[in-house]
Amino acid sequence: MDKFIVKGPSKIKGKVSISGSKNAALPILAATILFDKEVIIKNLPRVKDIDTMINLLKSLGSEIKFNKDKKVIKITKKKKQKVFAPYSLVRTMRAGILVLGALVSKHQKSITSLPGGCLIGARPVNYHLNALKKLGMRYNIKKGYIHANITGRLKGAKIRFSKISVGATENTIIAACLASGTTILRNAAIEPEIIDLINFLKSGGANIKFIGKRTLRIEGVKSLEKVSYSVMADRIETGTFCVAACLTGGNLKINNFDPKLIKTELSLLKKLGARIKTTKNLIHIIGPKKLKSIGNITTKEYPSSLPTDLQAQFMVLLCKAKGKSSITESIFENRFMHVAELRRLGAEITIKKNKAFISGDTHFQAAELMSSDLRASVALVLAAMVAKGTSKINRIYHLDRGYENIENKLRKIGVSIRRINWWKINI
Ligand code: EPZ
Repeated sequence: MDKFIVKGPSKIKGKVSISGSKNAALPILAATILFDKEVIIKNLPRVKDIDTMINLLKSLGSEIKFNKDKKVIKITKKKKQKVFAPYSLVRTMRAGILVLGALVSKHQKSITSLPGGCLIGARPVNYHLNALKKLGMRYNIKKGYIHANITGRLKGAKIRFSKISVGATENTIIAACLASGTTILRNAAIEPEIIDLINFLKSGGANIKFIGKRTLRIEGVKSLEKVSYSVMADRIETGTFCVAACLTGGNLKINNFDPKLIKTELSLLKKLGARIKTTKNLIHIIGPKKLKSIGNITTKEYPSSLPTDLQAQFMVLLCKAKGKSSITESIFENRFMHVAELRRLGAEITIKKNKAFISGDTHFQAAELMSSDLRASVALVLAAMVAKGTSKINRIYHLDRGYENIENKLRKIGVSIRRINWWKINI
């Protein structure tokens, strides 16, 4: 397994371009199952989860052609379509469950593996199943697989999610596009990645409208048209680079991302002392000499507060900020895997239930570290960047699931980071 060697402390300076969004691209790829005609998707990030979704689509009968840099793909369908989404693929990438709504809606049946839990929480799929059931999907669960079918087409229905869920909203939107009649979704997630999925489906002729802040109306259509669509840039990658600049007292220009989509994050960074200028698709951020204290931050669904996917990165900032602060994680029950590793670098953090109490003014000292999930891993890279000495970060395959080319991007803006390939370690 590859490792990163990071030598700190570093100060970031320069420009970085943001890649396509993993969490927007995954549901868009799943939704391509609905189309009979050719679909072209541009600006795909070259990360492991996207490879996994593409392999899943291939196994279901999609023919996929890449351009040279593999960021543009053309998807057409073989005559014979399959409906089996295996555990081997869905286990490694939970977004595999997003093919369920599309398969049932398009092919009237599906056998899709349940994803199982993961390190950040139990992550059940009950909201997905309840919503699809309301659209007419029958299912039972046998040996870890959801065996689902319908007679004819799914039927539009009124659905209210009891809790906001990104994945359940996406699965239901995808399924409802080809359902007969009208579907109303209430208490839907409205993350920018969901808006990107909706824009993609609408460009193929789907009839989807917001009729309230979290309420969507979907009029089913019989089929979707040929589409060429460019995936939005990655919101969490952008937030991660903003944190990196702020943390190192750096000076960074971030290209390619609409700053309006991360207003909350930028205002938190300003409170911490960063100076930020934005224009269309550009964020210029200058980190402070000393980070200010900020009190408590609670993760919440978009657009209310800090996204859970930036919680670990912000925790590193709070370790370096003045005085005491805290973070309440309200989305996942176990998303503090990075805390034990940050303590190995010298952080003083205690956890009570879903709240982390952080003592600031930490002088990180380099150490050998272990990555757990994707965002926890990038938090370790950030902390290692400001730690004194050389840190070794193991199991960085977690990072490769969601950050495109991260070490090259960081190296170009002044971070001393290199990858050691596992096959070189084992010689
Ligand atoms: C998406 O996961 C993202 N994944 C996650 O990104 C992100 O952390 C999460 O949304 C929250 O923003 C993708 O977009 C591919 P949820 P998802 O359904 O859809 C509970 C990253 O690092 N829940 O909004 O799985 C669930 O357990 C990742 O890129 C149920 O109880 O998240 C959680 O506590 C990881 N039953 C909460 O709801 C359900 O049926 C929100 O989960 C569904 C969810």
